[in-house]
Amino acid sequence: MLTVKNVSKIYEGKVTYQALNDINLTVKSGEFVGIMGPSGSGKTTLLNLIATIDKPTTGQILINNGQPHLLKRNDLAKFRRNELGFVFQDFNLLHTLTVEENIVLPLTLEKAKVKVMKQKAADIAEKLGITSIMKKRTYEISGGQAQRVAVARAMIHEPKLLLADEPTGNLDSKSSKDVMELLQSINQNEEATMMLVTHDPLAASYCDRVIFIRDGKLYSEMYRGENRQAFFQKIIDTLSLLGGNAHDLSSVRL
Ligand SMILES: Nc1ncnc2c1ncn2[C@@H]1O[C@H](COP(=O)(O)OP(=O)(O)OP(=O)(O)O)[C@@H](O)[C@H]1O
Ligand SMILES: [Mg+2]
Repeated sequence: MLTVKNVSKIYEGKVTYQALNDINLTVKSGEFVGIMGPSGSGKTTLLNLIATIDKPTTGQILINNGQPHLLKRNDLAKFRRNELGFVFQDFNLLHTLTVEENIVLPLTLEKAKVKVMKQKAADIAEKLGITSIMKKRTYEISGGQAQRVAVARAMIHEPKLLLADEPTGNLDSKSSKDVMELLQSINQNEEATMMLVTHDPLAASYCDRVIFIRDGKLYSEMYRGENRQAFFQKIIDTLSLLGGNAHDLSSVRL
Protein backbone atom coordinates (compact mmCIF):
# COMPACT_ATOMS: atom_id res chain seq x y z
CA MET A 1 0.00 0.00 0.00
CA LEU A 2 2.68 2.43 1.09
CA THR A 3 6.43 2.32 0.70
CA VAL A 4 8.75 4.99 2.01
CA LYS A 5 12.21 4.47 0.51
CA ASN A 6 15.36 6.19 1.75
CA VAL A 7 13.45 9.36 2.44
CA SER A 8 15.19 12.42 3.81
CA LYS A 9 13.79 15.87 4.31
CA ILE A 10 15.87 18.96 4.66
CA TYR A 11 14.13 22.24 5.37
CA GLU A 12 15.99 25.07 3.71
CA GLY A 13 15.64 28.35 5.47
CA LYS A 14 17.73 30.77 7.47
CA VAL A 15 18.98 27.65 9.18
CA THR A 16 19.02 24.43 7.16
CA TYR A 17 17.51 21.62 9.16
CA GLN A 18 17.45 17.92 8.44
CA ALA A 19 14.08 16.84 9.78
CA LEU A 20 14.17 13.28 8.40
CA ASN A 21 17.19 11.11 7.77
CA ASP A 22 16.94 8.05 5.51
CA ILE A 23 13.54 6.71 6.51
CA ASN A 24 12.45 3.30 5.21
CA LEU A 25 8.99 2.03 5.91
CA THR A 26 6.42 -0.31 4.40
CA VAL A 27 2.76 -0.30 5.34
CA LYS A 28 0.42 -3.09 4.23
CA SER A 29 -3.04 -2.47 2.93
CA GLY A 30 -5.47 -2.33 5.86
CA GLU A 31 -2.76 -1.83 8.45
CA PHE A 32 -3.19 0.66 11.29
CA VAL A 33 0.16 2.24 12.09
CA GLY A 34 0.98 4.64 14.90
CA ILE A 35 3.92 7.04 14.80
CA MET A 36 5.37 8.26 18.08
CA GLY A 37 8.41 10.24 19.13
CA PRO A 38 9.46 13.36 21.01
CA SER A 39 8.30 16.81 19.91
CA GLY A 40 10.35 17.92 16.90
CA SER A 41 11.41 14.37 15.97
CA GLY A 42 9.86 14.64 12.49
CA LYS A 43 6.45 12.96 12.85
CA THR A 44 4.39 15.68 11.18
CA THR A 45 7.09 16.07 8.52
CA LEU A 46 6.81 12.37 7.68
CA LEU A 47 3.02 12.48 7.60
CA ASN A 48 3.03 15.57 5.37
CA LEU A 49 5.35 13.84 2.90
CA ILE A 50 3.06 10.81 2.76
CA ALA A 51 0.06 13.14 2.46
CA THR A 52 1.75 14.70 -0.60
CA ILE A 53 1.52 18.10 1.07
CA ASP A 54 5.29 18.37 0.96
CA LYS A 55 8.04 16.69 -1.08
CA PRO A 56 10.95 14.61 0.17
CA THR A 57 14.39 16.13 -0.45
CA THR A 58 15.67 12.70 -1.47
CA GLY A 59 14.08 9.27 -1.65
CA GLN A 60 10.75 7.98 -2.88
CA ILE A 61 7.25 7.52 -1.60
CA LEU A 62 5.02 4.96 -3.31
CA ILE A 63 1.31 4.77 -2.64
CA ASN A 64 -0.41 1.80 -4.29
CA ASN A 65 2.69 1.44 -6.46
CA GLY A 66 2.31 4.94 -7.87
CA GLN A 67 4.44 7.95 -7.07
CA PRO A 68 1.99 10.76 -6.29
CA HIS A 69 4.85 13.24 -6.01
CA LEU A 70 5.40 12.88 -9.75
CA LEU A 71 1.77 13.68 -10.65
CA LYS A 72 0.82 16.95 -12.26
CA ARG A 73 -0.99 19.49 -10.12
CA ASN A 74 -4.55 18.59 -11.15
CA ASP A 75 -3.97 14.87 -10.98
CA LEU A 76 -2.37 15.26 -7.60
CA ALA A 77 -5.36 17.22 -6.31
CA LYS A 78 -7.66 14.49 -7.58
CA PHE A 79 -5.51 11.76 -6.05
CA ARG A 80 -5.56 13.50 -2.70
CA ARG A 81 -9.29 14.03 -2.83
CA ASN A 82 -10.16 10.47 -3.82
CA GLU A 83 -7.59 8.36 -2.05
CA LEU A 84 -6.58 10.23 1.07
CA GLY A 85 -8.21 11.54 4.21
CA PHE A 86 -6.48 13.88 6.64
CA VAL A 87 -6.90 15.01 10.18
CA PHE A 88 -4.43 17.81 10.83
CA GLN A 89 -2.80 18.77 14.09
CA ASP A 90 -4.61 22.13 14.03
CA PHE A 91 -7.85 20.68 12.56
CA ASN A 92 -7.95 23.02 9.57
CA LEU A 93 -11.69 23.57 9.83
CA LEU A 94 -13.20 26.38 7.82
CA HIS A 95 -14.59 28.95 10.20
CA THR A 96 -17.14 30.48 7.88
CA LEU A 97 -18.89 27.11 7.53
CA THR A 98 -21.06 25.19 9.94
CA VAL A 99 -19.92 21.90 11.45
CA GLU A 100 -22.14 20.00 9.02
CA GLU A 101 -20.78 21.93 6.03
CA ASN A 102 -17.23 21.21 7.14
CA ILE A 103 -17.96 17.49 7.47
CA VAL A 104 -19.47 17.17 3.99
CA LEU A 105 -16.75 19.25 2.34
CA PRO A 106 -14.89 16.30 0.75
CA LEU A 107 -18.19 15.10 -0.74
CA THR A 108 -19.05 18.57 -2.02
CA LEU A 109 -15.84 18.48 -3.99
CA GLU A 110 -16.98 15.19 -5.52
CA LYS A 111 -20.36 16.76 -6.35
CA ALA A 112 -22.34 14.22 -4.33
CA LYS A 113 -26.12 14.61 -3.90
CA VAL A 114 -27.14 16.82 -0.98
CA LYS A 115 -29.46 14.20 0.48
CA VAL A 116 -26.75 11.54 0.41
CA MET A 117 -24.23 13.94 1.95
CA LYS A 118 -26.60 14.89 4.78
CA GLN A 119 -27.36 11.26 5.56
CA LYS A 120 -23.68 10.30 5.65
CA ALA A 121 -22.87 13.31 7.81
CA ALA A 122 -25.73 12.46 10.19
CA ASP A 123 -24.53 8.84 10.53
CA ILE A 124 -20.96 9.77 11.25
CA ALA A 125 -21.96 12.60 13.61
CA GLU A 126 -24.06 10.17 15.57
CA LYS A 127 -21.12 7.78 15.94
CA LEU A 128 -18.89 10.61 17.10
CA GLY A 129 -21.46 12.18 19.41
CA ILE A 130 -21.57 15.57 17.67
CA THR A 131 -25.15 15.51 16.35
CA SER A 132 -26.21 18.42 18.55
CA ILE A 133 -23.59 20.81 17.18
CA MET A 134 -24.09 20.23 13.45
CA LYS A 135 -25.61 23.66 12.83
CA LYS A 136 -23.01 25.56 14.84
CA ARG A 137 -20.11 27.48 13.38
CA THR A 138 -16.68 26.09 14.20
CA TYR A 139 -15.81 29.04 16.49
CA GLU A 140 -18.81 28.13 18.62
CA ILE A 141 -17.56 24.67 19.56
CA SER A 142 -14.92 23.34 21.95
CA GLY A 143 -11.47 22.07 20.98
CA GLY A 144 -12.47 18.47 21.58
CA GLN A 145 -15.58 18.89 19.47
CA ALA A 146 -13.51 20.50 16.71
CA GLN A 147 -11.25 17.47 16.78
CA ARG A 148 -14.19 15.12 16.32
CA VAL A 149 -15.48 17.25 13.45
CA ALA A 150 -12.05 17.01 11.81
CA VAL A 151 -12.13 13.22 12.20
CA ALA A 152 -15.64 13.08 10.73
CA ARG A 153 -14.59 15.17 7.76
CA ALA A 154 -11.55 13.02 7.08
CA MET A 155 -13.58 9.83 7.09
CA ILE A 156 -16.76 10.77 5.29
CA HIS A 157 -15.57 9.87 1.80
CA GLU A 158 -14.14 6.56 3.00
CA PRO A 159 -10.55 7.18 1.92
CA LYS A 160 -8.20 4.26 1.27
CA LEU A 161 -5.49 5.90 3.33
CA LEU A 162 -6.36 7.96 6.36
CA LEU A 163 -3.62 10.13 7.85
CA ALA A 164 -4.15 11.68 11.25
CA ASP A 165 -1.91 14.01 13.23
CA GLU A 166 -2.83 13.97 16.94
CA PRO A 167 -6.54 13.26 16.41
CA THR A 168 -7.03 12.80 20.15
CA GLY A 169 -4.67 15.53 21.35
CA ASN A 170 -7.43 17.72 22.78
CA LEU A 171 -9.80 15.05 23.97
CA ASP A 172 -10.43 13.77 27.48
CA SER A 173 -9.73 10.08 27.93
CA LYS A 174 -13.33 9.00 27.37
CA SER A 175 -13.68 10.90 24.07
CA SER A 176 -10.21 9.82 23.09
CA LYS A 177 -11.20 6.18 23.58
CA ASP A 178 -14.37 6.76 21.55
CA VAL A 179 -12.44 8.29 18.66
CA MET A 180 -9.86 5.49 18.71
CA GLU A 181 -12.54 2.79 18.81
CA LEU A 182 -14.24 4.49 15.90
CA LEU A 183 -11.00 4.69 13.91
CA GLN A 184 -10.32 1.05 14.72
CA SER A 185 -13.77 -0.03 13.53
CA ILE A 186 -13.39 1.93 10.30
CA ASN A 187 -9.98 0.36 9.83
CA GLN A 188 -11.46 -3.12 10.30
CA ASN A 189 -14.80 -2.74 8.53
CA GLU A 190 -13.83 -0.62 5.56
CA GLU A 191 -10.32 -1.91 5.17
CA ALA A 192 -8.91 1.58 5.24
CA THR A 193 -5.18 1.84 5.84
CA MET A 194 -4.43 4.28 8.63
CA MET A 195 -1.49 6.21 9.96
CA LEU A 196 -1.75 8.10 13.17
CA VAL A 197 0.75 10.43 14.80
CA THR A 198 0.20 10.60 18.52
CA HIS A 199 1.82 11.41 21.86
CA ASP A 200 -0.83 9.38 23.61
CA PRO A 201 0.14 5.78 24.48
CA LEU A 202 -3.49 4.86 24.97
CA ALA A 203 -4.39 6.02 21.46
CA ALA A 204 -1.30 4.27 20.08
CA SER A 205 -2.28 1.02 21.75
CA TYR A 206 -5.20 0.74 19.30
CA CYS A 207 -2.77 0.52 16.38
CA ASP A 208 -1.54 -2.76 14.87
CA ARG A 209 2.00 -1.47 14.95
CA VAL A 210 3.75 1.54 16.46
CA ILE A 211 6.83 3.10 14.94
CA PHE A 212 9.05 5.30 17.08
CA ILE A 213 11.14 8.05 15.60
CA ARG A 214 13.82 10.12 17.20
CA ASP A 215 15.87 12.93 15.67
CA GLY A 216 14.43 12.20 12.22
CA LYS A 217 15.42 8.53 12.27
CA LEU A 218 13.51 5.31 12.87
CA TYR A 219 14.25 4.25 16.42
CA SER A 220 12.21 1.07 16.80
CA GLU A 221 8.86 -0.50 16.06
CA MET A 222 6.57 -2.99 17.70
CA TYR A 223 3.40 -4.91 16.96
CA ARG A 224 0.35 -5.08 19.15
CA GLY A 225 -0.54 -8.74 19.08
CA GLU A 226 -3.65 -9.86 20.96
CA ASN A 227 -3.35 -7.90 24.16
CA ARG A 228 -3.91 -4.14 23.99
CA GLN A 229 -3.20 -3.62 27.70
CA ALA A 230 0.21 -5.28 27.42
CA PHE A 231 0.94 -3.28 24.27
CA PHE A 232 0.01 -0.07 26.09
CA GLN A 233 2.55 -0.90 28.81
CA LYS A 234 5.25 -1.68 26.24
CA ILE A 235 4.60 1.64 24.51
CA ILE A 236 5.03 3.50 27.79
CA ASP A 237 8.28 1.65 28.47
CA THR A 238 9.65 2.48 25.01
CA LEU A 239 8.68 6.13 25.41
CA SER A 240 10.67 6.41 28.60
CA LEU A 241 13.69 4.91 26.88
CA LEU A 242 13.18 7.28 23.98
CA GLY A 243 13.52 10.32 26.20
CA GLY A 244 12.71 13.79 24.99
CA ASN A 245 9.34 15.09 26.00
CA ALA A 246 7.34 12.33 24.36
CA HIS A 247 6.78 10.80 27.74
CA ASP A 248 6.27 14.06 29.62
CA LEU A 249 3.45 15.01 27.32
CA SER A 250 1.79 11.66 27.43
CA SER A 251 1.98 11.36 31.20
CA VAL A 252 -0.48 14.25 31.42
CA ARG A 253 -3.12 11.90 30.12
CA LEU A 254 -2.46 8.79 32.16
N1 LIG B 1 8.59 24.34 7.47
C1 LIG B 1 9.66 24.11 8.23
N2 LIG B 1 10.81 24.79 8.05
C2 LIG B 1 11.89 24.55 8.80
N3 LIG B 1 11.94 23.64 9.78
C3 LIG B 1 10.83 22.93 10.04
C4 LIG B 1 9.62 23.13 9.29
N4 LIG B 1 8.69 22.28 9.76
C5 LIG B 1 9.29 21.61 10.76
N5 LIG B 1 10.57 21.98 10.93
C6 LIG B 1 11.53 21.42 11.89
O1 LIG B 1 11.66 20.04 11.65
C7 LIG B 1 11.66 19.29 12.85
C8 LIG B 1 10.55 18.26 12.84
O2 LIG B 1 9.31 18.93 12.89
P1 LIG B 1 7.93 18.16 12.95
O3 LIG B 1 6.86 19.15 12.85
O4 LIG B 1 7.96 17.07 11.93
O5 LIG B 1 8.00 17.52 14.42
P2 LIG B 1 6.94 16.63 15.19
O6 LIG B 1 7.61 15.34 15.49
O7 LIG B 1 5.66 16.59 14.45
O8 LIG B 1 6.76 17.44 16.56
P3 LIG B 1 5.45 17.69 17.47
O9 LIG B 1 5.29 16.45 18.28
O10 LIG B 1 5.85 18.84 18.33
O11 LIG B 1 4.28 17.99 16.59
C9 LIG B 1 11.54 20.32 13.98
O12 LIG B 1 12.81 20.54 14.51
C10 LIG B 1 11.00 21.55 13.31
O13 LIG B 1 11.50 22.70 13.93
MG1 LIG C 1 3.73 17.40 14.81
